[in-house]
Amino acid sequence: MKSYHIITFGCQMNEHDSEVLAGMLEAVGYTPADSADAASVILLNTCCVRETAENKVFSLLGRLRRQKLENPDLIIGVCGCMPQQENMAARIAQLFSHVDMVFGTHNAHQLPELLNRVSESRKTVQEIWTGSRGVYEGHPVKRKEGVRAWVTITYGCNNFCTYCIVPFVRGRERSRNKEDIISEVAGLAGEGYKEIVLLGQNVNSYGKDLGGNQDFASLLQCLEGVNGIERIRYMTSHPRDFNEKLIKTIAGSKKVCEHFHLPVQAGSSRILKIMNRGYTRENYLGLIEKIRTFVPQANITTDIMVGFPGEDEDDFSDTMDLVRQARFDSAYTFIYNTRPGTPAAEMEGQVPEEVKKDRIQALIKLQNKISLEKNMEEVGRRQEVLVEGESRKEAGLLLGRNRGNKIVMFAGGGDLRGEIVKVRITGAQLAHLSGEIVET
Ligand code: SAH
Ligand code: SF4
Ligand code: F3S
Repeated sequence: MKSYHIITFGCQMNEHDSEVLAGMLEAVGYTPADSADAASVILLNTCCVRETAENKVFSLLGRLRRQKLENPDLIIGVCGCMPQQENMAARIAQLFSHVDMVFGTHNAHQLPELLNRVSESRKTVQEIWTGSRGVYEGHPVKRKEGVRAWVTITYGCNNFCTYCIVPFVRGRERSRNKEDIISEVAGLAGEGYKEIVLLGQNVNSYGKDLGGNQDFASLLQCLEGVNGIERIRYMTSHPRDFNEKLIKTIAGSKKVCEHFHLPVQAGSSRILKIMNRGYTRENYLGLIEKIRTFVPQANITTDIMVGFPGEDEDDFSDTMDLVRQARFDSAYTFIYNTRPGTPAAEMEGQVPEEVKKDRIQALIKLQNKISLEKNMEEVGRRQEVLVEGESRKEAGLLLGRNRGNKIVMFAGGGDLRGEIVKVRITGAQLAHLSGEIVET
């Protein structure tokens, strides 16, 4: 029996790529293995956005050496973003001779062919295309079980934020054709999915490369018409490209959820400029205000980085101050990490690790206080919750998400998985809300 096990690192885009890799493997006769130990093919779909992600891959590869020794027929592959970096594929092949194949983000569609080549070759098979590649359609997708389905709308990124490796490993921005997206979403509705998440590094630049007047707002309007889909989400949007047309489209939509994830990165206009983000602190706060005007119950979340080169105490206090003003529902916080090959890696004024650690701790403390306060504001509201299943942490409780994307836990009987239920919020914690069903 040919079986596979895929271990994924990184963002939702990578998670979804793993679903495509799984689909391709199943199309050529592989079945999912119960565990990595039982698999005949193990794929590591990697991330390199920060060094910690890479270190996890290196240590896992070290541990897999023994499994390969015990089972020489095992095929080990490394793919995704990491090998797209200069010299990385060769480095992996050299350091880990038990790796059978290394392939990049532009080569995923070649997986069946690469597997054939592995059986004929004694060396590590390497296939890394660089530059910008087109969009491949029609791959089988094996989605993870769940109530929501991911749908890619754009590949790559053109923004070149000076700290970020993504544009180097994912290539230039390419949008899928609207018709292909709509037919995939219609197919998902037919399979019973109620929620879709549109994926791209910068979803609101959708259509710029397609010509005509195609844009993200009109794509959302088209998808609104797909029967059976009740909720539409998207990841990630860039504050610079989030215009009023888009806010109004979302405000007027029944299906596009009131969750705005708008990575701010920093609160100092000086740092934002060096980061090449294309907006100032004032632009960003103005955008938040506009969203709250059109969508009063918006859940607004963000990504923030501390310790970018040159960030001084005044810059950091601008970040803290922006966090106080914006009152995010929650935030992913990161310590800036040097990525070789990016412009920021060469910049002067690299911030010492201790300073970065102090800053992130202060930031997390502030944001946690605000997150809890924001969650408390939800108590007493009636909300629609899409039920995902039973909570793993709290036995006997069901878990789902409200339209704002917050986790809600509540007592409920029967098989409500995949159903949208009305819940009254009765309590608030830092990372979830509690509630009770008021009507099913
Ligand atoms: N395309 C998305 C997210 C890309 S990566 C966007 O533009 O928002 C996800 C997050 O990782 C980023 O928002 C950023 O906060 C963080 N990140 C990216 N590069 C980083 C680096 N070199 N060090 C630390 N954090 C980084
Ligand atoms: Fe990276 Fe910036 Fe592109 Fe996001 S928009 S993937 S942070 S370069
Ligand atoms: Fe990581 Fe690649 Fe995503 S670098 S964050 S997996 S695009």
